[in-house]
Amino acid sequence: MEKLLYITANPKGLEKSKGLQIGEAFLQSFHEEYPDVEIKRLDLFTLDFAQMDADLVFARGKLAGYGYTLDQLSEIERKKILKMHALADEFISYDYYAFVSPMWNLNSPAVLKAFLDNLFIAGKTFAHTPNGPKGLLVNKKAIHIQTRGGHYTGTPMQDIESGDRYLKIALRFLGIEVMETIIAEGLDLYPQRVPEIINAAKQKAIIAAKELPQKKIEVY
Ligand SMILES: Cc1cc2nc3c(=O)[nH]c(=O)nc-3n(C[C@H](O)[C@H](O)[C@H](O)COP(=O)(O)O)c2cc1C
Repeated sequence: MEKLLYITANPKGLEKSKGLQIGEAFLQSFHEEYPDVEIKRLDLFTLDFAQMDADLVFARGKLAGYGYTLDQLSEIERKKILKMHALADEFISYDYYAFVSPMWNLNSPAVLKAFLDNLFIAGKTFAHTPNGPKGLLVNKKAIHIQTRGGHYTGTPMQDIESGDRYLKIALRFLGIEVMETIIAEGLDLYPQRVPEIINAAKQKAIIAAKELPQKKIEVY
């Protein structure tokens, strides 16, 4: 059975977050079109996952750089690395990923980066090859729904957006095919246009949900 992981990075909750509301339209459409695909929700603001602290950094270095085995790590290092690997293993078990996040200070909320840090594991999610790194998460597709207070698309501000850009780079590095992002922008800039902007993004999300499994997208 195919599976979709719905990953949200917004602490505001569905009632207050425009992005989460657009995300629900995506989910509903996806479920209607693909009722047999199992859906799991992951709220990164409540999920307990390993942080890239000193223990994890040292454990990672010992395993990857110095050829240590798990039982040569300290107990706390082993505990944290196993937690990281368990999260990555669960992530790998999905076929589709939907990320929903707002733009915060030109990037995504920090929890999203912290989550992605758990997925970069040489030999598991990517491999070092003579031709450079190669993503191992093949035949998987992702979509990103991003809300923005300002307006960036088609303006000189476009290039300073770093949240969606990094997410795409990171997922593609891991081998995942990434669809175009559904962007709802100008939400704080044009308060009178908010319903119209959200509605347009929901319509795009509804179509994108139906197209996601068939879409063929280039990866690095
Ligand atoms: C901490 C914080 C930082 C923000 N930084 C940006 C930003 O850099 N650029 C931007 O366009 N909007 C920024 N915003 C505005 C949000 O992206 C905007 O309000 C968006 O609509 C939030 O979506 P939501 O309703 O799904 O939370 C920021 C909001 C917060 C709370």
